[in-house]
Amino acid sequence: MMEKGLKGVVAAQTSISHVDGLNGKLLYRGLDIGEVTKRYSFEETAYFLWHGKFPNEDELNDLKNELKRNRKLSSSIKEIIDHLPKNMDLMSVIRTAISSEGSEEYGWKPTIAQAIRLTALVPSIIAYRTRSMEGKPFVSPREDLDHVENYLYIINGTTPLKAHAEALETYMILTLEHGMNASTFSARVTASTESDLVSAATSAIGTMKGPLHGGAPSGVIALLDEVAEAGNPERVIREKLVRGEKLMGFGHRVYKTLDPRAAALKERLLNMTGKDQWLDLALETERTAVALLHEFKPGRSLYTNVEFYAAAIMKAIQMDDELFTPTFTASRMVGWTAHVLEQSEDNTIFRPESVYIGPAHTKEDVKN
Ligand code: ACO
Repeated sequence: MMEKGLKGVVAAQTSISHVDGLNGKLLYRGLDIGEVTKRYSFEETAYFLWHGKFPNEDELNDLKNELKRNRKLSSSIKEIIDHLPKNMDLMSVIRTAISSEGSEEYGWKPTIAQAIRLTALVPSIIAYRTRSMEGKPFVSPREDLDHVENYLYIINGTTPLKAHAEALETYMILTLEHGMNASTFSARVTASTESDLVSAATSAIGTMKGPLHGGAPSGVIALLDEVAEAGNPERVIREKLVRGEKLMGFGHRVYKTLDPRAAALKERLLNMTGKDQWLDLALETERTAVALLHEFKPGRSLYTNVEFYAAAIMKAIQMDDELFTPTFTASRMVGWTAHVLEQSEDNTIFRPESVYIGPAHTKEDVKN
């Protein structure tokens, strides 16, 4: 019997990451994610995912310089963004702006230089649009700031606190890559037709936008706000489950135990803020939700996923709710591009089959 949603189906072989859902482990090219976040920067980890080895000092400097060089938005991208409807959501703006990068420069096969360009562009697109919607001028990137610090700087226009930049860097490293998730699958399917890297990234961004994938942090904030207002997590969560609603920030297609990224983010948050009211609310909501999910969905193994504590981290660094999914996109661009590069090395077009379950008409039925 076919499983809906390709559950359990192996779609590709990869050396980029391994997601061990039963044991709650995530490995980047064989290295535990906990080790990676403790020892390496965003740039070093991106290099590792693209090249399969960590950079030496010169290679790291080259990568940083290339990211800096490519941060600049062309006047045509700015013009396109300026002409988009004011009520267009930010994920659609990113998707449109990235897709406008497509030209013959991006022909088959994809290259790491192209991957660096797209990775460098996303934060600038986010900051340009966000500031222009707020009626603020665009802040030029700063040469002395690395990728994550610069991202915070061009959004807020002020030098970020070290603790905020470090917390965001942990989040961004943890979300760089995650096996055959829906958006990565989209990217690989598009690339498998020998389409270009920009088209693959555009497909991936469209897939990331959906609330069941990248759009969950805003849902988590809505849940926490509701719990805070009601002052009674048990009642709010029970009512949602009785209505058959899904709790945002809980459950995962692969992890049947605590998502290791949620654990790492929770640790970072506890270290960063100590005890505060908002953190207490998140911890209480988590405890109550996990207990009630066990009651309502016995045997389903539903725990906190990365989005729950991502929302908490973003709150702690005072990032606007609407930047959550775009920030996830800014980091996942590295994973998507690494997968497309891998796909291009040994490509076969994706072409699964479907089972026809519609009616069997006779010629006579059709005539009538
Ligand atoms: N709240 C309530 N019930 C849930 C939840 C949830 N968050 N997640 C799963 N369930 C229920 C399902 O309704 C299903 O119930 P049933 O068997 O009675 O029909 C059962 O648990 C099994 O779940 P599945 O639907 O098989 O889980 P699946 O692997 O298909 O879905 C998904 C995973 C989409 C992430 C789901 O858990 C969900 O919608 N979670 C909320 C949204 C969310 O947090 N998304 C972010 C995911 S992390 C990321 O994308 C980076």
